[in-house]
Amino acid sequence: MTSEQLVGFIGGTGPEGLGLGLRFALNGIKVVIGSRNIENAELAVSKIKSKIPDGCISFGLNKEVAEKCDPVFIAVPYQAQKSTLEELKAVLKNKNVISVVAPLKFEKGIAMAEEVPAGSAALEASEILGESAVASGFHNISARDLLDPDALIDSDVIVFSDNDECKSITMDLAKLLNGVRVIDGGGLINSRYTEDLTALLLNINKTYKAHSAIRITGIKV
Ligand SMILES: NC(=O)c1ccc[n+]([C@@H]2O[C@H](COP(=O)([O-])OP(=O)(O)OC[C@H]3O[C@@H](n4cnc5c(N)ncnc54)[C@H](OP(=O)(O)O)[C@@H]3O)[C@@H](O)[C@H]2O)c1
Repeated sequence: MTSEQLVGFIGGTGPEGLGLGLRFALNGIKVVIGSRNIENAELAVSKIKSKIPDGCISFGLNKEVAEKCDPVFIAVPYQAQKSTLEELKAVLKNKNVISVVAPLKFEKGIAMAEEVPAGSAALEASEILGESAVASGFHNISARDLLDPDALIDSDVIVFSDNDECKSITMDLAKLLNGVRVIDGGGLINSRYTEDLTALLLNINKTYKAHSAIRITGIKV
C-alpha cells in the first residue's frame, strides 16, 4: 500500500469498523468511515477523534467511500451484506474488498452461526462482487478492545483470500494491530470456520464476562 491510499469502511459506524479504523489511523493509515447517513458518519468519527488527535480519519456516504478508497472493508451485519454489495458492485469493481462479516443470529440471547448457502459470508461477497478481489479476516477479535487504543489485541488474526495481492494487503493491515499475530488461512473456502467461531466466542464472553479471542498453536509464523 502507498501512503496516499485511503482505507475505507462500508458500515464503518459500528464498533468493528470504527475500532479497526481507529487502530489503522493510529498507525498512520488514512481512513474513511462510511455510512448510509452522513450525520451518522460524522457523529461516529467525532466520537473517536479525541483518541487519535494526529490520525487521519474522515467520513462519507458508503458510495463515496467505495469510490475513493482501496482497500474497502465491508463491516455491515451479515443480513445487510447482499443488498449493500449489490448497490456498490459497480464502484467496487477491480478493487480490494476485505470482509469482516460474521454471519450471526441471536436466539433467546444465544449467538448462533447463520447458515450461508454460498459457504461463508466472504464467499458470498465474492460471488456478488464478481470482479473485485476479496479477502476476509478479523472475525475473532473484539471490537471493544479495538476501540480502546491502549488495549493489547491478544489474538491471532487469520486471513483468507484467493487473490495473493489482496491477501497480502489484508495481512499487512492486520499486522498493525498491537499484539496480533497474523496467519495465512488459505482461500476463501476456509473463511467459514473463523466466521462461525465468532458465535462461540460471543457465548464464551457472556459466561466469563470477558473478551475472548483465539490463538493457533503448533506453528511458527
Ligand atoms: N462487533 C464485533 O466485536 C465484531 C467482531 C468481529 C466481526 N464482526 C462483524 O463485523 C460486522 C460489523 O460489526 P458491528 O458490530 O460493527 O455491526 P453493527 O454495529 O451492527 O453494524 C455496523 C454498521 O452497519 C450499518 N448497517 C446496519 N444495518 C444495515 C442495513 N440493513 N443496511 C446497510 N447498512 C447497515 C450501520 O451503519 P449506518 O447506519 O451508519 O449506515 C451500522 O453502524 C458484522 O458483520 C459482525 O459480524 C463484529
